[in-house]
Amino acid sequence: MSSERSSFTGKIGFVLAAAGSAVGLGNIWRFPYLAAKYGGGIFLLVYIVLAITFGFTLMITEIAIGRKTKLSAIGAYRSLNKKFSFIGYLAAIVPIIILPYYSVIGGWVIKYLAGFVSGRGDAMASGMTYFGGFIGTTVEPILWFLLFLGLTAVVVLLGVEKGVEKVSKIMMPALIALILFIAIYAIVTIDGAWEGVKYYFMPDFSKFSIMTVVAAMGQLFYSMSLAMGIMITYGSYMKKDISIEKSAKQIEIFDTGIAILAGLLIVPAVYAFSGGDEAALGAGPGLMFGTLPQIFDVMPFGDVIGAVFFIMVFFAAITSSISLMETVVSIIQDRFHTSRRMTCLIVIGICLLLGIPSSLGFGLWSNFTILGLSILDFFDFISNNVIMPLVALATCIFVAFVLKPKSIEDELEIGGKAKKRYLFNIVVKFIAPICLIVILVSSVLNVFGVISI
Ligand code: PFF
Repeated sequence: MSSERSSFTGKIGFVLAAAGSAVGLGNIWRFPYLAAKYGGGIFLLVYIVLAITFGFTLMITEIAIGRKTKLSAIGAYRSLNKKFSFIGYLAAIVPIIILPYYSVIGGWVIKYLAGFVSGRGDAMASGMTYFGGFIGTTVEPILWFLLFLGLTAVVVLLGVEKGVEKVSKIMMPALIALILFIAIYAIVTIDGAWEGVKYYFMPDFSKFSIMTVVAAMGQLFYSMSLAMGIMITYGSYMKKDISIEKSAKQIEIFDTGIAILAGLLIVPAVYAFSGGDEAALGAGPGLMFGTLPQIFDVMPFGDVIGAVFFIMVFFAAITSSISLMETVVSIIQDRFHTSRRMTCLIVIGICLLLGIPSSLGFGLWSNFTILGLSILDFFDFISNNVIMPLVALATCIFVAFVLKPKSIEDELEIGGKAKKRYLFNIVVKFIAPICLIVILVSSVLNVFGVISI
């Protein structure tokens, strides 16, 4: 069976495919608003430390489990130890929760793309006012959501992912260059942006709280597609002669690099436009949509640059949503043996069921909150701050004390010498489980209002 599983060709094939899934709205939309909200430089520092230690460990573990078992999450955990197959099921829930609200944000991206293409960029440049008005309406955001979801579904149904990936291979480097260009332009020309650069890069330790770690950890899972079975699936297609450590390092550098750049584009600008006002910095999910049009507004050819920018963001978003939908489809297909077309329809149904309320939660249903969170924020919280840390914790305990780290280390050695054995052992046995328990407990207590951090 295993010999029939197709593999990524070449060394770079694996890294590119995994990076294509990893780089998405998490980097461009989610990272900057968290960095702005949780103290700028201190968030960046915590994120990088976690990425190097914890993120790296979890990524190599998941890839190794996938390559060792040649199965995706549910089957992989089951084949390693029947008692631990629950980890696979838990991981499988995550993409099912994320895909619907990811498509709502994807819809916002298309709306802004359409706005700039039709030359209405200046109307959007009123900061959060325009954005708030837009997401507060009932029908329009749902229509854009349906369009994004429909496009994702068409690609998955027709099986034309390869074509999209080809385009996105050109789009990705172009996006990096454009972000860099716009960021430098904004920092140089906008009054007060330099102060914002300092806020973004210089850690202010007085802004540190356990919530900084909670937010950074959730973001790490989300952005690197960890703790949701994705990297296990990618690993299952990876050839034995490729170094897992090297690949994980490349994916991490790529993913984190783009997130840091996106933050550099957005955080200093918000800081400058608001004079460092805490409420503006803490705007949350709408931050990118409120801020970018303001930057494009002060740029020559701002409408054109805005349009090109949002096209690229759209490609980054749709490659990720395709990989999310593919994952959900294969989970359901493996479990219920339904046809691919039928499964796609089921997945679309789930997305409508969870996505429409997520969108309405900003307008018609804004009085309806769960644990004080809007519906979209609730889905984001429950997946990133509860289920993913649980999956990661269970994985670490399983690997450290049941499977034993050696088993993973042996897999790492196959494609090259495992250089980080020592780090891996300590993180998987002690650091990660302790951190994860602290994070889980504090984020849950925080949302229940038991503690305030
Ligand atoms: N990592 C993606 C992002 O940062 O946008 C989100 C994601 C894509 C998660 C694909 C999971 C996945 F399968």
